[in-house]
Amino acid sequence: MTITSHHRARFTDRTALVTGAGSGIGRAVALALAAEGANVVAAGRRREQLEETVALIEAAGGKALAVTADVSRAADVEAAVAAAVEFFGPLDVAVNNAGVFRGGAPLAELSEEDWRTQLDINVTGVFLALRAEIRQMRTQPTGGAIVNIASTFGVHTRNPGAAAYSASKAAVSVLTRGAALDHIGDGVRINAVSPGAVETPMSLRPGEDDAARAARARTSLPLGRISTTDEVAAAVLYLASDDASSVVGTDLVVDSGATA
Ligand SMILES: NC(=O)c1ccc[n+]([C@@H]2O[C@H](COP(=O)([O-])OP(=O)(O)OC[C@H]3O[C@@H](n4cnc5c(N)ncnc54)[C@H](OP(=O)(O)O)[C@@H]3O)[C@@H](O)[C@H]2O)c1
Repeated sequence: MTITSHHRARFTDRTALVTGAGSGIGRAVALALAAEGANVVAAGRRREQLEETVALIEAAGGKALAVTADVSRAADVEAAVAAAVEFFGPLDVAVNNAGVFRGGAPLAELSEEDWRTQLDINVTGVFLALRAEIRQMRTQPTGGAIVNIASTFGVHTRNPGAAAYSASKAAVSVLTRGAALDHIGDGVRINAVSPGAVETPMSLRPGEDDAARAARARTSLPLGRISTTDEVAAAVLYLASDDASSVVGTDLVVDSGATA
């Protein structure tokens, strides 16, 4: 085999929806998809953040649309899917990345509100997005590929002070497998990525800054550092691409060796 180019464009003219695309991992995924030719719908609650993602994509020569949506509301995610199809055409790729972390305290100290918020956004949000995306993708001759963002905190590691978040992310891993089995026959390929600590504010412990987090990673992680958002995006793009055409219902860990 001769490799003629290192530049790949696995998503040329494909339509991709990314939730939580206004920051962190979601923005990195949106930019990476656009860099490989996808037309991207960037969804999330804060319009300004989404507009920034769109501007970054357009500045790099890509096409994107910002759609405000709260993933815990069925009507919002259905409207985001409809907007993607209307604006760019059939929905080829969806990345369900929106999520929140409310932790740091033992379970007995967790408020009911924080419990419900995490379950609403991290679990019900992924369910509602999956349902809307699958209902669209199964009508398309070429089907589609979906990647959910879970976390090593779910089924992969043990983490004090994060029981509710961990429960929500375990649900994402298990929901991914079930949905994948239910809908691969419809031409919809569903997988998850479980990141370990990633360079966004979500992985900072209370009172920790970037330098303290880096120092912690040097001694606690086999790789000696946390993952970049681009490294997580690379795993997401692999699963969303035809490179992974026979990968179904998997949960790909990207964690600097934490669970090795
Ligand atoms: N950073 C880590 O170390 C790490 C590790 C493992 C897994 N993860 C997971 O990776 C995903 C992205 O996290 P991140 O680190 O990139 O953090 P982040 O920058 O806080 O990104 C989360 C994004 O989700 C959006 N969002 C939150 N609630 C939403 C809702 N109800 N509807 C729509 N969008 C919503 C947020 O935007 P709005 O507030 O504007 O809606 C934000 O853009 C999350 O699912 C997180 O659990 C992160």
